[in-house]
Amino acid sequence: MTFRHSRIVGTGSFLPPRAVANDELVRDLAARGVETSDQWIVERTGIRQRHLAERGVGCSQLATEASRRALEAAGLQPADIDLIIVATSTPDYVFPSTACLVQKELGTPGGAAFDVQAVCSGFTYALALADSMIRTGLASRALVIGAEVFSRILDWNDRGTCVLFGDGAGAVVLRGDERPGVLAARLHADGRHESILRTAGNVCGGTVTGHPYLTMDGPAVFKLAVSVLDSVAREALDAAGLSTTDVDWFIPHQANVRIMQAAAKKIGIPLDKVVVTVDRHANTSAASIPLALDTAVRDGRIRAGQNVLMEGVGGGFTWGAVLVRM
Ligand code: UT7
Repeated sequence: MTFRHSRIVGTGSFLPPRAVANDELVRDLAARGVETSDQWIVERTGIRQRHLAERGVGCSQLATEASRRALEAAGLQPADIDLIIVATSTPDYVFPSTACLVQKELGTPGGAAFDVQAVCSGFTYALALADSMIRTGLASRALVIGAEVFSRILDWNDRGTCVLFGDGAGAVVLRGDERPGVLAARLHADGRHESILRTAGNVCGGTVTGHPYLTMDGPAVFKLAVSVLDSVAREALDAAGLSTTDVDWFIPHQANVRIMQAAAKKIGIPLDKVVVTVDRHANTSAASIPLALDTAVRDGRIRAGQNVLMEGVGGGFTWGAVLVRM
């Protein structure tokens, strides 16, 4: 069966219970000789706390919990799902995919399940892919998940990165429909910038080789992010025949409140239409957009019929936009 469109019919998210406020992190880092401050973190990023998964808790567990909540919101059962896509850069294993582990946990074998690796743009990539698969008849009801345990790839001696990230998961149920939900999607990458944000480790002969911690040229990523968030917003809006005034809510990747504000200003979207949750969970990479989406749906800000512009940007270098009508 093919559908003309796909719609988001449920959202869910999950943060590991352990919340670490800036002050606690600053104390922990000071104990290992790493100097930072709550003031620096808040002023430069807007981050006030992050959630960290306990040892032994993997990406698939966070993803499964977020999925259960999205299914409940959609009024669907795991058995209704015929496609699971997990966007992640911190999977449980090299293989099988995190999506297969989520499928196993949900107890719903048979449909397609795979991971997408586009770092912080991963959720926009996964959502666009699920929309295409539904419209071409490859699936009818999908779980699209962004889930990360970035705390596992942080170098806790690098104050330039370790204060910025957290763990978490967000999910949506995307269902085939005759009414439009996903209005337009645009995806991009420029591999020439691969070195400005990466985790350049590998498993080889039973040992980890390379540098298995996240490294980032923050200012370079910042500059590129603001520019591509602007250009891809215009592309997605043009593709849907809409303008910036038609955007009810803007959900950019939650990395840094200054990037979000600069991008919104450049695109011409008022700041009161920007959903900001980075203060509560820091940068959760592929999980950040669905986490913010679920928060704003559950607190009643995002309502049926509204236009939501979601935008990801991150390692690769990758970026993407998905414009949806809720
Ligand atoms: O998720 C993928 C996308 N990632 C992003 O979007 C992140 C993009 N980049 C950023 O958000 C910002 O560049 C950062 C938040 C990472 C850094 O902010 P910035 O305003 O670009 O600061 P900076 O890197 O230019 O560093 C300014 C100063 C430096 O000291 P000096 O050289 O001026 O003396 C750093 O050493 O801040 C220092 N610094 C810190 N100080 C206290 C860097 N990290 C810290 C820290 N605490 N944690």
